[in-house]
Amino acid sequence: MAVERTFSILKPDATERNLTGAINALIEGAGLRIIAQKRMRITRAQAETFYAVHSARPFFGELVDFMISAPVVVQVLEGESAIAKYREIMGATDPAKAAAGTIRKVHAKSIGENSVHGSDAPDTAAREIAQFFSGNEIVG
Ligand code: CDP
Ligand code: MG
Repeated sequence: MAVERTFSILKPDATERNLTGAINALIEGAGLRIIAQKRMRITRAQAETFYAVHSARPFFGELVDFMISAPVVVQVLEGESAIAKYREIMGATDPAKAAAGTIRKVHAKSIGENSVHGSDAPDTAAREIAQFFSGNEIVG
């Protein structure tokens, strides 16, 4: 096991329902440390770049519209096996299929409005962190 960093977004459905603190408590309760965090409105261009891998999928337009519909909170999380650990506590993409106690099971509204994003691999984590944070904003 190694200490890793992963990229997280608290999505618009979470910030709109004032769930930043509740979700952060689940993150910290799992032993992950929030080493960078900022609340922002992302632009359409930023959302399209971020989700470019899904640009051919039928849900892409709705996903981009959703991500720019309200503020998000972008974060860098650090901890042992942080990438896999965060995916585990997030739960499955579809909250109906997410395990009990996971962030998405507890808080997500639907498969689209599912409260959180977490990187899926070391290369995507590095790329996603670099899209939203400069080095001096990350304090580990
Ligand atoms: O976020 P995660 O990595 O679990 O799922 P993904 O397959 O990478 O999809 C990215 C995001 O697209 C999801 O978190 C949903 O917000 C959205 N999505 C959707 O709206 N409808 C789907 N059928 C699949 C994903
Ligand atoms: Mg994904």
